[in-house]
Amino acid sequence: MYKITVIPGDGIGPEVTKAALHVLEAAPNKFDFKEASAGNSCYHDTGTTIPDETIEMAKNSDATLFGAVTTVPGQKSAIITLRKELDLYANLRPIKSYPGVESVYNDLDLLIVRENSEGLYSGIEEYTDEGATALRVITRKASERITKLAFIEAVKRGKTRLTVVHKANVLKKTDGVFREAFWKVADEYKAKDDYGDIEVNEVYVDAAAMFLVTNPHRFQIMVTTNLFGDILSDEGAGLVGGLGMVPSANIGDDNGLFEPVHGSAPDIAGKGVANPTAMILSACLMLQFLGEHQESLKLEQALFKVLKERVFTTPDLGGNSTTLQMAQAVREKYEKN
Ligand code: NAI
Ligand code: MG
Repeated sequence: MYKITVIPGDGIGPEVTKAALHVLEAAPNKFDFKEASAGNSCYHDTGTTIPDETIEMAKNSDATLFGAVTTVPGQKSAIITLRKELDLYANLRPIKSYPGVESVYNDLDLLIVRENSEGLYSGIEEYTDEGATALRVITRKASERITKLAFIEAVKRGKTRLTVVHKANVLKKTDGVFREAFWKVADEYKAKDDYGDIEVNEVYVDAAAMFLVTNPHRFQIMVTTNLFGDILSDEGAGLVGGLGMVPSANIGDDNGLFEPVHGSAPDIAGKGVANPTAMILSACLMLQFLGEHQESLKLEQALFKVLKERVFTTPDLGGNSTTLQMAQAVREKYEKN
């Protein structure tokens, strides 16, 4: 049995988490789920957005499922703290088109590999007399390890092109380090048998944002710094049916936390209409991380069928089902697979 920490969070976080658990519970005796709290409602209950107990539970689990939290200015970010504490240095965000889902492109399959431990999300900000400053921390170590992981993911997924996205023409020192680290690792990896066929190139982030809309097929794997990766992945979500569609894996050397790319969506929270796809796909990524490749595939196939049939889908997908009705439809197909 896998020990899984479940952090539902706020807003639609608990709604999509309940939906994903409902589906996963169709695999009997596979998971031991333990719930932990984090986020804004947790802050009101306990005085902190991320209790030590939650961090310990996540550290001692095989994996963590995280819904979404509402972040309030002045409060510590629960998700960034967890990423740091568990040393989840990579955030993998697959941007895929699914049959039946109205998308700008219906044949996309690219992966954004986002550096997850530093950059502008280092959380080092201070007020000054004139306003405020934030520290953009870029280390060679983190830049090299994320590039290595991008190469490994490329081969794992049978991809042949890897693009580094940066802004080294303006952020000369910080993105200069990121870019140099990328090319250093690329030279090493290109010399290895398994990686020699991967074509590597670089694009400035502003141009990348445009190409993602006009010609996303030029990208297969994109590797970038923390903030750029965050922005580009929401942009990517917009190409494949919206934020309800895109999952993510936060990976370290010995732990993993899986969460949708979207946030707590206060505009639709409490209505039972959140699309559970991103969370169910995050569960699929968790299954892969645990080595349960067959189960992951089965679950993904079940979800594909529900999306394609368009009978039990949520309003953002043009349907009129609730989050749980859609999850139930996925579960039924999963059980039959
Ligand atoms: P958001 O991702 O929560 O929502 C953006 C838009 O997408 C909204 O219109 C929302 O209704 C829609 N949307 C998101 N997920 C959906 C789903 N599953 N099904 C259907 N529609 C969906 O981003 P927003 O509004 O900028 O942020 C809301 C809160 O979430 C903020 O407090 C923010 O800080 C937090 N946030 C938390 C994240 C996390 O927990 N990892 C990530 C991003 C934002
Ligand atoms: Mg984001």
